[in-house]
Amino acid sequence: MNYENEHIANTYQRLPVNIQNGSGAILHDINGKRYIDMMGGYGVAILGYGNKAVKEAVCKQFDIISIAHASEYTPAREEFIKDLTGIVPSGLDKFYLGNIGAEAIEAAIKVVIKSSKKHKIIAMTNSYHGKTAGALSITYSEKYRKSFGQLLMKDVEFIRYNNMEDLDKLDKDPDIAAVFFEPVQGEGGINIPSYDYVRELRNRTENNGIILVADEIQSGLGRTGKMWAHEHFNIKPDIITIGKGIGGGMPLSITAGKPEFMDNLSKGEQSSTTGGNPLAMAAGSAVIKQLGASMIMDVERKGNILRDELKAGLQDAKSVKEIRGLGLMDAIELKTKFLPVLMGMINRGILPLYSGINIIRMLPPYVISDSELKEAAGIMSEVILSQGTEVIS
Ligand SMILES: Cc1ncc(COP(=O)(O)O)c(C=O)c1O
Repeated sequence: MNYENEHIANTYQRLPVNIQNGSGAILHDINGKRYIDMMGGYGVAILGYGNKAVKEAVCKQFDIISIAHASEYTPAREEFIKDLTGIVPSGLDKFYLGNIGAEAIEAAIKVVIKSSKKHKIIAMTNSYHGKTAGALSITYSEKYRKSFGQLLMKDVEFIRYNNMEDLDKLDKDPDIAAVFFEPVQGEGGINIPSYDYVRELRNRTENNGIILVADEIQSGLGRTGKMWAHEHFNIKPDIITIGKGIGGGMPLSITAGKPEFMDNLSKGEQSSTTGGNPLAMAAGSAVIKQLGASMIMDVERKGNILRDELKAGLQDAKSVKEIRGLGLMDAIELKTKFLPVLMGMINRGILPLYSGINIIRMLPPYVISDSELKEAAGIMSEVILSQGTEVIS
C-alpha cells in the first residue's frame, strides 16, 4: 500500500483494502480476509471474478491475434459487433468503440455537435459522465469541476433532474443540440426519475429536434433488471453510451447511435489506438453471450431480496432516510455521514460503494448468491444500527 501511495497520483479516495484475489462475488485480501463485494469494481464486475468464459475467450484470442488497430479489419471485432447489435435498442446500431466510459461520452458529444450543427448541451443536476474535458463539462459536481474552468465547454446548461418545469427550457431555446441524461443516476446517489418525467423528456426532445443521449454506462447491461435502464420508462433514446461491465474487466466502451447521427463524424474526427482491440472484443462477446434474459430477470429478483432484507434489518434505524434502487443498483441514504458506516462495513468484510456525503451505494456482481446478499444485508444493517445518529447539519 505504501509503495502505491508514494507513486500513484493522489486522485482516488483510497479504501483500506488490499485485494489479492476473487471468485464470484467474494474477494480476499492479502491476509486472506474475506469480503462480500457490494461494489463490483465500481460496477464493472457484472459477471463476478474469475468468469471462465471471459478468461477462455481472452486467452484464446491472445493466441490468435492480440492487437489489430481499428484501421484494420479483424474477425473478433466483427463477431463482437454482431453480438452487440443483438442487445442494443433497435436502430442504435452504429458504434464508436473506445476504452473508458468518459471516452464514449466524448464521442457522443462530438456526434451531437456535428449532427445538429448547434453547440449547446443540456445536462442534469447531480449528473456524472466522467472526468475528461468534455465529459467533465456535463458532469454536475463542483468538486470535480472547480479547478478546471478553462477546460470546460462553455455552452452547457444544467436543468434539474426529474423536474418537469425545467423541461420548458427545451421548448424555448433553439440552440440546444442535445440532452444528456442518466436513466438512473449512479454517482449522484441512485436517483430514479419518475416514469412521466422521462416520457416527457423524450417527447420534448423529439418535438424540438433535440438529440437525446442516455448514459447507460452504469445503469445498462442488465444492472437495473432490464437490459437498458431507459426501458423502464418505455422510451428510446437516439444515442446510448455503454461502458463498465461490457468488457468483462478489459477496458471497453461504446457509443451506440442511430446511423443518421453517428455517420456525421468524419474520418479522423475521433479515434483511439486501442479502441476495438481484439482482446477487448473477445471479452465483450463472451460477456454479451452470457447476458441472457434469465440472468437479467435474476438481477431484478436479487435486487428485491437485497432491498427487502435491508428494509427489514433497518426498520428501527433512526439514521436511515431511505433505501432505494432498481435491480442491483441500490442505495441506503443515511441521515449521517457515510464514512464511519463505510469503514465499519469494510471492517466486517463488506465492501460497498458510496455517493455524496451520506449515501452507501451498492453495485454487486449479478452472480452474487441469495445467501451472500442476505449475509451482506444483515451485516450492513448491524453496522448501521451500531453507529451513532449524529445527523448531518
Ligand atoms: C453514468 C456514468 N457515465 C460515465 C462514467 C465514466 O466512466 P469511466 O470512469 O469509465 O470514464 C461513469 C463512471 O462511473 C458513469 O457512472
